[in-house]
Amino acid sequence: MKAVRIHFLDNGDELRMEDVPAPELEAGHVLIKAQAIGLNRADLYRRRMAPEGEPEPPRIPGLDVAGVIEAVGAGVTGWSAGDPVTALVRGAYAEYSVATAALAYRIPAGMSMTDASSLPCVFLTAWYAFQMAGLAPGQTALIHSAGSGVGMAGIQLAKALGARVLTSAGSDERVARGCELGAEAGVNYSTQDVAAELLRLTDGRGVDMALDTVGGAIFDGTLRALAEGGHIVTVGGHTGPRTAYEEQELERKGQWVKAMGVFNEAQADEAQAGWEKMLAWFEDGTLRTIVQEVLPWTEATRAQELLNSRGVFGKIVMEVG
Ligand SMILES: NC(=O)c1ccc[n+]([C@@H]2O[C@H](COP(=O)([O-])OP(=O)(O)OC[C@H]3O[C@@H](n4cnc5c(N)ncnc54)[C@H](OP(=O)(O)O)[C@@H]3O)[C@@H](O)[C@H]2O)c1
Repeated sequence: MKAVRIHFLDNGDELRMEDVPAPELEAGHVLIKAQAIGLNRADLYRRRMAPEGEPEPPRIPGLDVAGVIEAVGAGVTGWSAGDPVTALVRGAYAEYSVATAALAYRIPAGMSMTDASSLPCVFLTAWYAFQMAGLAPGQTALIHSAGSGVGMAGIQLAKALGARVLTSAGSDERVARGCELGAEAGVNYSTQDVAAELLRLTDGRGVDMALDTVGGAIFDGTLRALAEGGHIVTVGGHTGPRTAYEEQELERKGQWVKAMGVFNEAQADEAQAGWEKMLAWFEDGTLRTIVQEVLPWTEATRAQELLNSRGVFGKIVMEVG
């Protein structure tokens, strides 16, 4: 099959289209013939380094795929060859990939493969984060970085769950787009004091939970704008390490900061239940996906450059074929 691979040390971080053996189908997995591949910021990190526990280079990047099930492994129920599917995989930039059946998801009725490939990583990340924080209707949720994939998904999902949503972004225009998606207001972290603005927007009370994808200096502002008993779920941090904080100080206020990962097979049943709920919301228009750019997968390098440009609001997808 054709696949895009990274060779790291020998060949820098160049993305190369190559002929490679198709992945082997193991018990409990499904083999997917790709039609579309959703990009994520993690694809950029994995271009520079191979995280511990992941296959040695050369490696196929990519986490989100949509396509058709080619074959099902032993013990898999509920999926058959020919079914449309979207899934979290390791190695999505390929004609074929394998997914644990627990991390394969039905595509919302009427949704294209292109749109479907943009869903799993970001909507499930937001779903897990809200479950972890116990987000309840009426609470205030802060969803950082409105224009990121996770931000775009998180704003809509938090709103669908009945929360009051605040957001942030690197420009007034991107904050405004976050408000169009369902946030009540937002802070421009390039020009405003994050904590001061969030406290102003919450009449000094602070936010009940924050989904922090940005890290760095913004984290300190988020922490200072956290309500008593509030929670921060961190899922990334591309602006550098988070500022240090005192666990005891947090405990005293009933607060916590926890990290999470979306490849969470231990909670896969819960995620499937969440996915069913989200399916209904996609089908009735409560949730929508925002795919800003669609490119052929032969242009994987350009697609990643676009993602890195900070000019994208929502998602980039590559079509296979
Ligand atoms: N742990 C997990 O399982 C998990 C799952 C999904 C995502 N993540 C992490 O969550 C983060 C967001 O992922 P994503 O795919 O949603 O990201 P994305 O779509 O690429 O968006 C990233 C956004 O970050 C903002 N940003 C702020 N400072 C930036 C900087 N210095 N350089 C580049 N962008 C900057 C940009 O918006 P502005 O221009 O408006 O600032 C940009 O749109 C990443 O760190 C990712 O690894 C983790």
